[in-house]
Amino acid sequence: MATRRLGLILSGVTGRIGVNQHLGHAVTALRETPITLANGDRLELDPVLVGRNAGKLEKIARRFGVERWTTDLDAALSDQNDSVFFDSALTGVRFGNVRRALAAGKHVLCDKPLAPTHAEAEELTRLANEMKLKNGVMMANLWLPGMRKLKTLVDAGFFDKVLRIRGEHGYWVFAGNLRPGQRPSWNYRKEDGGGVVLDMMCHWHYMIEPLFGRIRRVTCAARTFAPRRWDESGAPYDATADDTGAVICELESGALAQIDLSWCTRVRRDDLMVMQVDGSGGSAVTGIFDCLTQHASQTPSLVWNAEDRAATDYRAGWLPVPDLPPLGNAFKVHWELFLRHVCDDAPYPWDFAMAARGIELAEACYRSSANYSWETLSATP
Ligand SMILES: NC(=O)c1ccc[n+]([C@@H]2O[C@H](COP(=O)([O-])OP(=O)(O)OC[C@H]3O[C@@H](n4cnc5c(N)ncnc54)[C@H](O)[C@@H]3O)[C@@H](O)[C@H]2O)c1
Repeated sequence: MATRRLGLILSGVTGRIGVNQHLGHAVTALRETPITLANGDRLELDPVLVGRNAGKLEKIARRFGVERWTTDLDAALSDQNDSVFFDSALTGVRFGNVRRALAAGKHVLCDKPLAPTHAEAEELTRLANEMKLKNGVMMANLWLPGMRKLKTLVDAGFFDKVLRIRGEHGYWVFAGNLRPGQRPSWNYRKEDGGGVVLDMMCHWHYMIEPLFGRIRRVTCAARTFAPRRWDESGAPYDATADDTGAVICELESGALAQIDLSWCTRVRRDDLMVMQVDGSGGSAVTGIFDCLTQHASQTPSLVWNAEDRAATDYRAGWLPVPDLPPLGNAFKVHWELFLRHVCDDAPYPWDFAMAARGIELAEACYRSSANYSWETLSATP
């Protein structure tokens, strides 16, 4: 069996998601167990780590058995032997990094969001398409067990007509003074690409539109409920980005999707991320792992009673969707799909154009919040 080498330039893999998911669970796993390409060749991934801190890079490279690292992005991009660029640096530098990589003729995969603004996301889409470079954005939630189960219900026509969707995501993120914040401080600075609406609505976009159809318009209230936080070094800073968003999307079908996002909430729900879909044929509630259904025929006939405690256990009467064959780590699944797209030209719909639509949605949310308005998204092209 022959091997095919593919040089990967990995930027931002000293960060939280970069080191754990992209470098650890995805690239390292795919180096240990290489993909077999369509012609039978084994794909040998040869990464070079790029970042700003030589000490950190060296340590991480050693930990993952990576031979190459550099603090010089331009030098890495000018190496013709490395044809794929990946970026999971903080959101505020994504646009610049990806544009440089495209200009250097690299195929690009990056984490979400593709860019802080829709205009920038469109520019990257145009550039990648003009240069005929493969492009993709990580949409890892699609491969979560709960989301895969939900998709089987949609595909089987379980919901009949989808009427409403309710999504909830969030938990309490400490301000950083009494206890360390669990998320990087840039998440709370607009100027670094922070903001829960930008961060999360690009996820909700790809979890809603492919399954339930296009979003026609949106209204949103974005708020910063914790205006002062403390960063990784313990220094106080003003939170300039939203930490909470209440979003209502109206789909072209007429269905409503209410999305609740917050880093200022305490969790009393089945999972950190939960989506309930109500259809005329039945309802489903999905989390990261589990998906429970209640068919129309199993729906209890509930009545309001404020005098006595309910005799009905509202959580009973829901049936779990059985587990599907495991796919493994969601980031690894998505990486493999992208690499097959690059090497074998395999179909890959999760491209910059699709990701730019998620940014269009997030940006419309912010406009709506500023103007107390409903904002219309572009119609089906
Ligand atoms: N797909 C997902 O589910 C998911 C989850 C979390 C984060 N993310 C995305 O991943 C990205 C990183 O998030 P994170 O939580 O890992 O953040 P992080 O702060 O842990 O890591 C940020 C990375 O960017 C680098 N960096 C910071 N400032 C930089 C600068 N000025 N120039 C170049 N590099 C710089 C850091 O060295 C680090 O490698 C964000 O875009 C975020 O939206 C995606």
